[in-house]
Amino acid sequence: MEEILRAEKLKYVHSDIRGPIFEESNRMRAAGIDVLRLNTGNPATFGFGIPASVKNALLENVDKAAAYCDLRGMPAAREAIYRYHLGKKLPNINNEDIFIGNGVSELVTMALTALLNAGDEILIPSPDYSLWTNSAYIAGGVPVHYICDEQSNWYPDIADIRSKITSRTKAILIINPNNPTGAVYPKEVLQQIADIAREHDLIVFSDEIYDRLIMDGVEHTSLAELCPDLFCVTFNGLSKSHIVCGFRCGWMIISGNKEKGKDYIAGLVALAAMRLCSNALMQLVIPAALADNESTQQMLVPGGRLYEQREACCKALDHIEGISYVKNKAAFYLFPKLDVKRFNITNDKQFAFDYLHEKHVMIIPGSGFNWAQPDHFRIVMLPEPAELTRAMNALGDFLSTYRQN
Ligand SMILES: Cc1ncc(COP(=O)(O)O)c(C=O)c1O
Repeated sequence: MEEILRAEKLKYVHSDIRGPIFEESNRMRAAGIDVLRLNTGNPATFGFGIPASVKNALLENVDKAAAYCDLRGMPAAREAIYRYHLGKKLPNINNEDIFIGNGVSELVTMALTALLNAGDEILIPSPDYSLWTNSAYIAGGVPVHYICDEQSNWYPDIADIRSKITSRTKAILIINPNNPTGAVYPKEVLQQIADIAREHDLIVFSDEIYDRLIMDGVEHTSLAELCPDLFCVTFNGLSKSHIVCGFRCGWMIISGNKEKGKDYIAGLVALAAMRLCSNALMQLVIPAALADNESTQQMLVPGGRLYEQREACCKALDHIEGISYVKNKAAFYLFPKLDVKRFNITNDKQFAFDYLHEKHVMIIPGSGFNWAQPDHFRIVMLPEPAELTRAMNALGDFLSTYRQN
C-alpha cells in the first residue's frame, strides 16, 4: 500500500497554537488532569461575554441572512467598515474595496494566493502570527522573516528589513498591534516602513485586528494612512474586540494606489467568488459592533479585565529570576524572554512540554511564532487575575529548579 503524503507546499506549515503541545494537553485533560491552556487568544473560553450590542443585532436580523450574499459582503456591513476606516484616515477607499471573510484567516490565505508566484518573496515579521508565514508557503511563495527588536520595544528593525529585500520581494507585512509581542508601532516607525515600500515598489499588508484593543492611552496609526501612493491592504475583524472568534468575521480593505493592482483585485474577486460569500449572519452584526466601541474600551482601562490581567501577569513575572519582558501596550499577549544560559535551554518546545507536564499550564514556545532562538514564549493573558497569578507563580516555582539537559 502506497502511503498518502501531504503536498510538498505543506512541508513547512505548522500551527503550534493547536499543534503537538495542544494535543498533549488534550491527552492530559482526557486523563482527568486540569490543564490551564494559555495557547489561543480566544476570550470567550475564559468567561468573556459577547457585548449586548452584538447579541441584539444577531437576534434582530437573523431572518435576513438565509441567502448567499454579495461575494464582497453585504452592503450595510461594508458601509460600516468603510466608515470605520475613513475614521482611521485610509486614503482613496470606497465600499467596493472591501472584502468580508470568514475571519481574517480566510482573507490572508486569499490575499497571498492571489499574489504570489513560485519563488516570490514576502517580508514577514519575526516573531509573527504564523497564519501569515503558513499562508505564504501554501501560496507557493517564500516568507522572508525580518526581525522585530526587543531592545526597541519590539519595533521592526528597519536595517534588517532593508538587508532582506531582493529582486523577488513583492510585499511587506506588518502586524500592528502585534501578536505575539503586544507592541504598537509609532508613526515614525511606520513612516520608515512606508518609505522602504515606496523605494522598492512593495505591496503593503497591515494586519490590524487588535487596533481597538490598545491600552495606556497609546495612539494607533494605520500604515495605509501613510501610503496614499502605494497599494495597501489592511486587515481587521471582530474576533477579538467583540469576543466573537467563533463567529468567523473579518475583512480586508484596499487603499491608496488601487489602479496599479487592478489585475490582482480581479484575482481576489475570482477567489472570493469561488467561496460564494462569507457567513452572512455574522455580517449583520458588523454595523452594531463597530458602533459599540464602549464595550471593548471597558476591558482596557484600570478595573477592566484585560488591563487588570496584564497587570497581574506582569507583577507575578517580575518576581521570577531569569525572565524579562517588554510590557505589551495592546491585545492580551506577552512574549517574555528566558535566560537560556541560566536554564540551559536549547529547545523551547521541550521547555513548554516540561512546564506543561510539571505544572499543568500550557504556553506556546517562540518557535511557534517563527522566532529563531529558543529563548522566548508567549503567554495569553486571558484568565482572571488570580488564576494568571497562580500560573505565573507556578512558572517561577518550576524555573527555580529547571535545567534542560
Ligand atoms: C494577528 C492576527 N491576525 C489574524 C488573526 C485571525 O483572526 P480571525 O479570527 O479573524 O481569523 C489572529 C488571531 O489570533 C491574529 O492574532
